[in-house]
Amino acid sequence: MTDVSTARVAPAVLPKPNDPCWCGSGTKYKKCHRGADSVEARKRGPEARSRGIRPGVISPIRTVPAHIKRPDYAVSGRPGRFFPPSEVNSADVIARMRRACKAAAEVLNAAAAHVRPGITTDEIDAITHEEYIKRGGYPSTLNYHGYPKSLCTSINEVICHGIPDDRPLEDGDIVNLDITIFLDGVHGDCSATYFVGTVDPESERLVRVTRECMMLGIEAIKPGRPISDIGKAIEAHATQHGMGVVRAYCGHGIGERFHTSLQIPHHYDPEAKTIMEPGMIFTVEPMITLGHWHHRVWDDGWTAVTADGCRTAQFEHTILVTDTGVEILTVA
Ligand code: MF3
Ligand code: CO
Ligand code: CO
Repeated sequence: MTDVSTARVAPAVLPKPNDPCWCGSGTKYKKCHRGADSVEARKRGPEARSRGIRPGVISPIRTVPAHIKRPDYAVSGRPGRFFPPSEVNSADVIARMRRACKAAAEVLNAAAAHVRPGITTDEIDAITHEEYIKRGGYPSTLNYHGYPKSLCTSINEVICHGIPDDRPLEDGDIVNLDITIFLDGVHGDCSATYFVGTVDPESERLVRVTRECMMLGIEAIKPGRPISDIGKAIEAHATQHGMGVVRAYCGHGIGERFHTSLQIPHHYDPEAKTIMEPGMIFTVEPMITLGHWHHRVWDDGWTAVTADGCRTAQFEHTILVTDTGVEILTVA
């Protein structure tokens, strides 16, 4: 196993984005170690002393071939100001979303096939990165608000936005793989939680109930009804099983933007009054915990963990509201 304390040392004064990287690769710093350096602080923060999942070493940013069409934030890290005028999508966007979401589901399945004890999340990132490119897609998370990798890998007490690193998966872990592809000018987003080897019965129960929560949330989708129906259905099921529903992260409208301004709470929020209409496309992605729903975020600014250290699971689909109910788009 790699010793994170000696694996790699960045200089005290870091290069400017367009200067050559300090590692000697000859590549511009922003294309090489900048992403990894920005999360180097993870090894010094309080989380480095936690008993659970700890920050590992993050590899240099992967490149995407020039022929792949990129979202507006791919270079700057900042999504543009464009918001769709309405959450109700045109037939053209819906047709493109069907293709992107199918591709996202295929990439998720391809990544999941590699989950086993001993593989590192960075190796899963490398495999996934190629799967997007093979389909002509860009990994939506790559440089999204500066995020350094092509998927999120959230293990055990990590709620979401775990960054792939050099930690090998261990027998008994649970890991969520969250995949988003930018294809044909739109984003398709899905995730699932997988067992690594054999897991304890409580983790099995957590993962089963979390999948049920997502499906019950999706089944609550009906045109004419408020968005709050979704969280109401999810929270009722989680509560019945003595589990918590994370509040800090919501489902979201999605299409030509990765995240639109439409939010889908997974707990019951009576203020979520937006009425569902045919043509709306959004995600349902509940994060369910074996303990309390309180979270905190590591010093890397991304990795969200349960405050009490209890395990947590997540499933996600992108869905379309139809005239009669709902259609799941992220199916392979
Ligand atoms: N795929 C995540 C979601 O479900 C978003 C990840 S954004 C990242 O919304 F920047 F963290 F990658
Ligand atoms: Co996602
Ligand atoms: Co999402």
